[in-house]
Amino acid sequence: MTAHEGNVGNQVVETLRWRDGRLEMIDQRVLPAKFEYLAYNSAVEVAEGIRSMVVRGAPAIGCAAAYGVALEALRLRAATSGEFTAAMNTAFEVLAASRPTAVNLFWALKRMRAVWESVKGDSVGAIADRLLTEAHEVTAEDIRINRAMGAFGAALLPDGARVLTHCNAGALATAGHGTALGVIRSAVEAGKKIAVIADETRPFLQGARLTAWEMVQEKIPVTLITDNMAGYMMSHGEVDAVVVGTDRVAANGDVANKIGTYMVAVLAKRHGIPFYVACPLSTIDVSIPDGTAIPIEERAAEEVTGFRECQWAAPGVSVRNPAFDVTPAELVTGLITEKGVVLQPDREKVAALFGG
Ligand code: MRU
Repeated sequence: MTAHEGNVGNQVVETLRWRDGRLEMIDQRVLPAKFEYLAYNSAVEVAEGIRSMVVRGAPAIGCAAAYGVALEALRLRAATSGEFTAAMNTAFEVLAASRPTAVNLFWALKRMRAVWESVKGDSVGAIADRLLTEAHEVTAEDIRINRAMGAFGAALLPDGARVLTHCNAGALATAGHGTALGVIRSAVEAGKKIAVIADETRPFLQGARLTAWEMVQEKIPVTLITDNMAGYMMSHGEVDAVVVGTDRVAANGDVANKIGTYMVAVLAKRHGIPFYVACPLSTIDVSIPDGTAIPIEERAAEEVTGFRECQWAAPGVSVRNPAFDVTPAELVTGLITEKGVVLQPDREKVAALFGG
């Protein structure tokens, strides 16, 4: 893996990009202090990039996994058909084990496997080319979907709205435009004056480091708060709407998202503030009946006891670090999807999105 400086300026940020036969991803661990791309050549490397949070955010993880599959196939161009099959199966397993909660990872792997199955009789080289084409398509489609969600979501936000968001569901969490921040970007593009309130998002600081950075880059007004200030802001009439992203939505409309989202949803309900979830269909897992069955990632204690090298908690203290929580569907004002807005989501309305 090699690093080189990227260019920000007025340029659109590409979270993932295909360059010279390899995948490059912005290293989100070092933003905003450094803007640099890391290059990836194999499924194992991409899985490590997902696990270590170089790339994060549900749709971006899905795109990275699709490229991971394609990279592996390209790497195996000279292999026999038997070697190719064995190594590809391992690649799928390694990628699937990288992070547990965002269903887009498994959605993308299923899609890539289906493509592989559909061309299994072809030469190894032809299969590899087909898988790369599909990875490009997964990525291009993500941007189209985000723009569609953005248009539906933008219509929900009044001109002058002050919108609170949690974590980073922006361009960095997707192939581009973003889901929750995509709604905000689309509203701004439509001529609305929108001000963003970004929760810092302890412990990994996606709000402070990534959402604030994206908004500052684009000169969209943004105010950073710590997570425990959301109730204060709402009770003082300083929040008009909440828009967040999601990592997995269950069949009944329960929403898993970054830890702290549930707290924000309860507060929004208490204060009569609409709570919207920007949710591509690839993030809905109809095989999961409700939120209690969504696997929740537990991360390292060091993320809670400090940040990077600076550790402030008493050594030896016991720590919990669930990375996501589940907001019950009853607290969700609307799911913003690429097919339209599902108000007060429930099992029937979610099934209807899939023609059920
Ligand atoms: O742990 P992360 O940074 O991958 O968590 C990301 C989130 O929780 C996002 O809100 C979610 O993936 C939606 S991104 C469009």
